[in-house]
Amino acid sequence: MNLSTTLRDHFFSAISKLTEDADQYAGMIRPAADTKFGDYQSNAAMPLAKRLGKPPRDVATTLVDSLSLDEICEAPDVAGPGFINLKLRGSFLNQTLCEMLGDERVGVRKVEQPSKIIIDYSSPNVAKPMHVGHIRSTVIGDALSRLHRFVGHDVITDNHLGDWGTQFGIIIYGYKHFGDPDKVAANPVPELSSLYRLTNQLIEYHKAKASLAGLDAKLDEAKTNAEAEAKLAEQAAANEKLSAKEKKKARKSADSAVRRIDSVKADIESAQAKVAAVDSDPVLAKAASEHPGVAEAVLRETAKLHEGDAENRALWEKFLPHCKDEINRIYDRLGVTFDHVLGESFYHDRLPVVVETLDKLGLTTKSDGAVCVFMDGFDSPMIIQKRDGAYLYATTDLATLQYRQEIFGPDEILYVVDSRQSEHFEKFFSMAGPMGMDGIKLVHVNFGTVLGADGRPMKTRSGSLIGLESLLDEAVAAAKEVVCNPERLATMDPPMDEAEQNHIAEIVGIGAIKYADLSHHRTSDYRFDVKKMVALEGNTATYIQYSYARTQSILRRVAKEIQTDDIAKWAVDTTNTENFELREDAERALAISLLRFEEAIAGAITGQAPNQMSDYLYETAKTYSTFNEACRVLGNTDPVVLHTRVALVLLTGRVLKQGLELLNIGVIDRM
Ligand code: ARG
Repeated sequence: MNLSTTLRDHFFSAISKLTEDADQYAGMIRPAADTKFGDYQSNAAMPLAKRLGKPPRDVATTLVDSLSLDEICEAPDVAGPGFINLKLRGSFLNQTLCEMLGDERVGVRKVEQPSKIIIDYSSPNVAKPMHVGHIRSTVIGDALSRLHRFVGHDVITDNHLGDWGTQFGIIIYGYKHFGDPDKVAANPVPELSSLYRLTNQLIEYHKAKASLAGLDAKLDEAKTNAEAEAKLAEQAAANEKLSAKEKKKARKSADSAVRRIDSVKADIESAQAKVAAVDSDPVLAKAASEHPGVAEAVLRETAKLHEGDAENRALWEKFLPHCKDEINRIYDRLGVTFDHVLGESFYHDRLPVVVETLDKLGLTTKSDGAVCVFMDGFDSPMIIQKRDGAYLYATTDLATLQYRQEIFGPDEILYVVDSRQSEHFEKFFSMAGPMGMDGIKLVHVNFGTVLGADGRPMKTRSGSLIGLESLLDEAVAAAKEVVCNPERLATMDPPMDEAEQNHIAEIVGIGAIKYADLSHHRTSDYRFDVKKMVALEGNTATYIQYSYARTQSILRRVAKEIQTDDIAKWAVDTTNTENFELREDAERALAISLLRFEEAIAGAITGQAPNQMSDYLYETAKTYSTFNEACRVLGNTDPVVLHTRVALVLLTGRVLKQGLELLNIGVIDRM
């Protein structure tokens, strides 16, 4: 049950008697920050009083009088300037918890009107090794698809693979110039990866070398600017006519000019490092000098592939399955699957149709030979076909949208993609209406960057991004140290063999990586810190998995005590409102936390924010820990106490397990 919405509906009826725009106020209801005064609080009376021109406490009292919440709450209480405090009735809690116990969905209802929702996520550019950035789209998209599905939406997941872009031009070029066909045939994945890296390194080398002169000029400019700004700040500081605020502003501007110098210096260092890495290696240096035009040549190879050149097509067909194997290995490890994997190449033949459609609608303009669409509200046009005939990322997205409308007819599409692509999505979404697809709700579910320990986007020293697989291995190893160290192993009865330890380490390690990602709001950047993410204490998957394992251990022991083989069945069959009663504060707090499961799911879906789910699980695990300290489950002779506590432990386990499952994180029965 979703108490927030139930209470909101009641408030809506009460407020409707006072004003027509009740929906503006009805939702102002939250779980109470301090449970001393109640469990939920409505702040609606204050703004409503302003609107009605009446004293807020009077409005609050009027509302309280017309609310009919008797079955759910004790008589509401008006506090302070007009807060309405609601305390849930014991009988209501008992009844609801017993219902949850008997329901395999732990009380979570399905939506009345399911939507058809396509979720476009993961979508890496294959042919280059997957890196830590890809984990965000994969993990967030996977969690969102599970959350939506669980409440009954018709979800279609689609991995829009980048299987048609420049990265293939890169390996084709690398293969033609540096590849050894026998080696590639024998060991395709690592060979293709190293051909990709080599060719890309040469491209980056020439780009860096060419950029250095310009960067030097930028540095001079930044220095001159910083000197001028420093002078201005100094003058401002000495000028008595200026306010403190104006002085501060001048100082800030001088500081930022200094920071600009640092940032240009960092760019120079990074370019120099790229140049040095090649120059210091005779083989690389020779390759670089023999391939000065590698960047343009790679673009030509890509264009030839798109034009249907037989040799490049054959190479693409040969390489693609291996590239897919590489990413599938990671998906297997993460336990992620898709309904469809329709990559960019799938839409190639539909691209001319997009241009035609837009032409017919009179939306295209030729500019410098390129086909562009100018749109209100944007400074630059959307280019859909380049002068040389090549199509663009946006063209493919428009073709994909046409296809999805035709084949799936969705109500909504979620694109789980990096924030840096925001402008692309804004432009592309604004085309949907004119192309006759405004019935589909299009949402860019954007996310921030994964940072290294130094707070910068995660990179290795040589400047390349760290491969995802080695990070997964690192997390699993760290998890093993935390969960299966000698001290903990000594307490395990029966002992834990190596296979069980490895199984636990894999679930905890992979879960830790996913949870670290999901527990931050998706739009914020976060630091990748393996030690922190596998810790047994704090807001980690490990802590929640451990809490779950504790519930199972207690249930096993109670089962022995009361001599039943199936404690879950015993609790479900024998616990009813007569022998279920919340007597202790810790029991009540845990019950309310469990009751909020549906509310947490709804919040995570509305905000496309899986972190609302992880926050909820963390709070519940903490509340459970308090309960564990205060309330003994074993050795209770009072049947009411026994039934109540066993039911609470059982429900806690089910909610934690189900909640983690919605984030695609596993649990273990003992750890
Ligand atoms: N392959 C793209 C990239 O790695 C992401 C694709 C996202 N999905 C989409 N429909 N544009 O940047």
